[in-house]
Parts: sequence; C-alpha cells; structure tokens
Amino acid sequence: MTSPRPILVTGGAGYIGSHTVLQLLEAGQRVVVVDNLCNAHEESLRRVAELSGQQPTFHQVDLLDAAALGAVIQQHRPQAAIHFAGLKAVGESSQIPIQYYHNNITGTIHLLQALAAVNCRQLVFSSSATVYGDAQEMPITEAAPLSATNAYGRTKLFIEHLLADACIADPEMKVICLRYFNPVGAHPSGRIGEDPNGIPNNLMPFITQVAVGRRPHLNIFGNDYPTPDGTGVRDYIHVVDLAAGHLAALDAMDRISGCEAINLGTGRGYSVLEVLRAMETASGRPVPYEIQGRRRGDVATSYADPSKAQQLLGWQARRELSEMCDDAWRWQQSNPLGYAGQP
Ligand code: NAD
Ligand code: UFG
Repeated sequence: MTSPRPILVTGGAGYIGSHTVLQLLEAGQRVVVVDNLCNAHEESLRRVAELSGQQPTFHQVDLLDAAALGAVIQQHRPQAAIHFAGLKAVGESSQIPIQYYHNNITGTIHLLQALAAVNCRQLVFSSSATVYGDAQEMPITEAAPLSATNAYGRTKLFIEHLLADACIADPEMKVICLRYFNPVGAHPSGRIGEDPNGIPNNLMPFITQVAVGRRPHLNIFGNDYPTPDGTGVRDYIHVVDLAAGHLAALDAMDRISGCEAINLGTGRGYSVLEVLRAMETASGRPVPYEIQGRRRGDVATSYADPSKAQQLLGWQARRELSEMCDDAWRWQQSNPLGYAGQP
C-alpha cells in the first residue's frame, strides 16, 4: 500500500483520526494531517510520533478556509484522503444546526475542490450508523433505508449523497463511506484515546469517568426498551479495529469503482448494563448508576451486518468488549484529565 505520495488525513488529531494516523505511519505511509484543533490537542500527534517513531506532517488549518486548505493540498499532492474532520455532537447539532451544516458540508466541498485541483480522486469518508435512523431490521445491512433524526445525522446523509453525485459525474473518482457503529476503547499503550470536551455525551467515556471517580454515577437513559434487559443495545467497535478498516479501505481502492458505503461494526450488540458490568470487571471498581427517562432520538437497538466489509475490504473486527474496556480504562487511568492534563 505504501506510495511515494502522502495520505491526507483531515481531523487526524482527533480520536479516530489519531489512531488511524498511527497505523498509517506504522505501515510506512507518509501522512499529512489537517486539523483546526477545535476538538483535539496537538499532543495526540506528538504521542502518535512517539509510538510510531515517525513524524506526521501537521497543518493547523480549518477546512472552511478554502485558500489555506488548497495551499496545503497543492504543497503535498496527496494520493488519497481520509476525511474525519467534522463536528459530531448529536445534541449540540440541534442547537447550532447551521454551524454543523456549514462545518461538515462546506468543509467537505472545499476538500473535494482542493483534491480535484491536484487530480486526487480517492477519498475515505467518516460516515455513521446514524444514517440508518431507527432501523427496523437487525442486523443492519448497507441496503437498509436511510434517514436521519438530527442535524448531525443529516450532514452525514447529505455528504454521502454529495459524494455519490461527485462519483457519478467523474467515473475515475472512488469514494468509500465507512459507516461506523459505536467506536470505543483506546490504543493499548494508553498513550492515545478519546478526550471529550466537558461532560461526555457517549456511554463509554462517561462510564470510565465514573469508574475513575470524576463523576458520581452513570445516568442510564431508559430501561424500558424492547431489549433483553430494557437498556439500549449498540454495536461497540474497538477504535484500533476501526482504524484498521481505513487502511483496508485505502487498499481496496483499486478494486472498487464509484462510491461504496460500508458498515464497520462487529455484528454483535451489547446493552448499556452489559457495558457497565464489563467496565466494572476491567477497572475492578464499581460503576454506580441511576435509571433516567429515555434520551430523545435514541433507538432501542443498533448493530451491523459487517459482511460487506469482509467481502470488499477483507476486514473484520477482532477485539472483544473486554479488550475495549481494558484499553479504555488504561487510557482513562493514565490520562485522568485527557491530553490537557499532561505536560
Ligand atoms: P473528533 O472530534 O475527535 O475528531 C474530529 C476532528 O476534526 C477533531 O480533531 C477536530 O478538531 C477536527 N475538525 C472539526 N472540524 C474541522 C474543520 N472545519 N477543519 C479542520 N478540522 C476540523 O471525532 P472522532 O470521534 O474522531 O470522529 C471522527 C469522524 O468520525 C467525525 O466525522 C465523526 O462525525 C465520525 N463518527 C464518529 C463517531 C463516534 O462515535 N466517535 C461515530 C460515527 C462517525
Ligand atoms: N447512554 C446512557 N447514558 C449515557 C450515555 C449513553 O444510558 O450517559 C446509552 C444510550 O441511551 C444508548 C447507549 O448508551 O443506548 C449508547 O449511547 P452513545 O451516546 O454512546 O451512542 P449512540 O449510539 O447514541 O450514538 C453514537 C454517536 C453517534 C453515532 C452513533 C452511530 O454518538 O454520533 O453512535 O455511530 F452516529
């Protein structure tokens, strides 16, 4: 897979991006990261360099700044791009929808324009299982109907449509939209991981913060769902497996044409209570919880049919829930305040 031209990684200082940059460097790729650090610390990339022994090139650039982005892309002439950069908080997206549309969609358009100017026609895009809305059939295949229940989800849907149209217009363009299920965990070194701003919205970082004593208890959003124990069921996927899926997608570019959407999940669902128990085992600490009402927009159950990823990318998730919790816990314990708390 190694090529003399670099891989451009937008949002590469973020949670999933940093784990992917690490694997790209370990695979011998040259990597150029563009990130405006609106939800990340440059420290993540310093640690990626420390772990890999290789230095990614970093440009602190906003995708909304078309001129600056264009200049970086002209300078490096990437072979392909992996596009992580985006705003991702579901609740916030309902409060400031225009900012979400502008950042995620305009940012993507600027990226496509700048890539086209250097004849770069290979893109891997971070989509999400949120594009399935409230799916009626489990496991969810890529052929399931698409819908969105919030502004964030709609940005992902629009971008998928936009990318499909771009591929129809240009037969040489190749795009893989990776629909992630629920990314969790951290690199086993405990050096890079998820570093949410403020109160975490997502289950796993919230649970680890309870286990480490930063928060008194977990609020469980509903125990009256039609699931085995009444709590929501999700397909949690280890971030290291997820990152590997991006390398597999780059490798598959020669084998695909046009725009492909591919689920990245394990194919297995766990309930909130099962995740909580697994974290209690990993941490050796109790995780107190209180049952609250359902969170608006949540679905009861979501898990992937990951067979297309296996067929097309030769990829499958390997890590179990226990490993996800062990690694999330190691990261949390050694970085109780995230990157900001470290020298
Ligand atoms: P993250 O916030 O850690 O990473 C996103 C990165 O993009 C951040 O480093 C941020 O600073 C950067 N960024 C945002 N807007 C930018 C802009 N205009 N210009 C330059 N940089 C910008 O999030 P993550 O969890 O690593 O997610 C990566 C991608 O995967 C996102 O597109 C997200 O929507 C998608 N995704 C995430 C999840 C999840 O649960 N983590 C699930 C499905 C899809
Ligand atoms: N949950 C709680 N308490 C919390 C947080 C979550 O009980 O404090 C529950 C939720 O109700 C849900 C489950 O834990 O049943 C998982 O919730 P998350 O917020 O971790 O994940 P979601 O499935 O709601 O959404 C995540 C991302 C979305 C993305 C989606 C699919 O936040 O951006 O996965 O990839 F679209």
